[in-house]
Amino acid sequence: MSVLVLGGAGYIGSHTVDRLVDQGQDVVVVDSLVTGHRAAINDKAKFYQGDLADQDFMRKVFTENPEIDAVIHFAAYSLVAESMKKPLKYFDNNTAGMIKLLEVMNEFDIKNIVFSSTAATYGIPEKMPIMESDPQDPINPYGESKLMMEKIMRWADEAYGTKFVALRYFNVAGAKPDGSIGEDHGPETHLIPIVLQVAQGKRDKLQIFGDDYNTPDGTNVRDYVHPFDLADAHILAVDYLRKGNESNAFNLGSSTGFSNLEIVEAARKVTGKEIPAEIAPRRGGDPDSLIASSDKAREILGWKPQFDNIERIIETAWAWHSSHPNGYDDK
Ligand code: UFG
Repeated sequence: MSVLVLGGAGYIGSHTVDRLVDQGQDVVVVDSLVTGHRAAINDKAKFYQGDLADQDFMRKVFTENPEIDAVIHFAAYSLVAESMKKPLKYFDNNTAGMIKLLEVMNEFDIKNIVFSSTAATYGIPEKMPIMESDPQDPINPYGESKLMMEKIMRWADEAYGTKFVALRYFNVAGAKPDGSIGEDHGPETHLIPIVLQVAQGKRDKLQIFGDDYNTPDGTNVRDYVHPFDLADAHILAVDYLRKGNESNAFNLGSSTGFSNLEIVEAARKVTGKEIPAEIAPRRGGDPDSLIASSDKAREILGWKPQFDNIERIIETAWAWHSSHPNGYDDK
């Protein structure tokens, strides 16, 4: 048995490959390295560079690795703001890419897939915390592209018996506690790494996008989850499918929300730096609040997140950014 990790050189993918290898599992990684980093991939994993939408390339990977029985699919674009400006890029890479992948998986009779979905599929939630059964009505093309992927998989299950687990992540932050792998996006758009770049003096100040949202302090509220815990959830989801369970979807978050202002405050405490911040106009595509109920993942998958403290999450991110001021330094 072997797990194929698509997007295993990315931020969450690389943490999952690392955990899989730690557990002694056999891992094959595919990554185009367009946004991922070769240095992020654990050396014990077998690596192929290529695009999952290239079906001949994927046929070669499956032919050379006949022991693959499950796929974990991280290889998607994930920036809300970019998706508002370039929606077709998201529908092509994320949604059309999924169809091409499923076609080749069918040819090789591979019936298990765990895939990264997102809190962005819920749009503007009617109530908090968000449950998996709540309505999904995205307000940005990124969320829509992922919701379409979920829907495609439902019909692929019905027709071909392809079993899937959709993991709907909330906001991911932090790095491997030993500082060896972490978050390195170019350009960086996420709140916590940007706040830490200000702490490092790499940016003058933080712009907080909007303070007139329907939240206690007017700034957006998000639910932060650590990639180490996400990695565990993916591994549990693969076990769940290997045991022959039915397709399912799970939220992955901490069930606690922090406003953007609270994140800046927590980062000031962790880093001891001033971190200048100013209020700027809204960014577009941002729901007021996103807080998960992750009870279902705890109950059904047996998920037990270890990082439930925002300062601890920021500390691990700070350790990575401090030891890798230029990220992986490979671009
Ligand atoms: N923000 C700022 N200033 C910045 C960057 C971000 O104020 O310089 C704000 C955003 O407007 C938002 C919050 O910080 O209110 C978090 O923004 P991020 O870009 O860090 O994350 P998002 O909430 O937009 O999106 C992330 C993932 C998505 C996922 C979503 C689910 O990137 O893939 O979480 O909650 F869908």
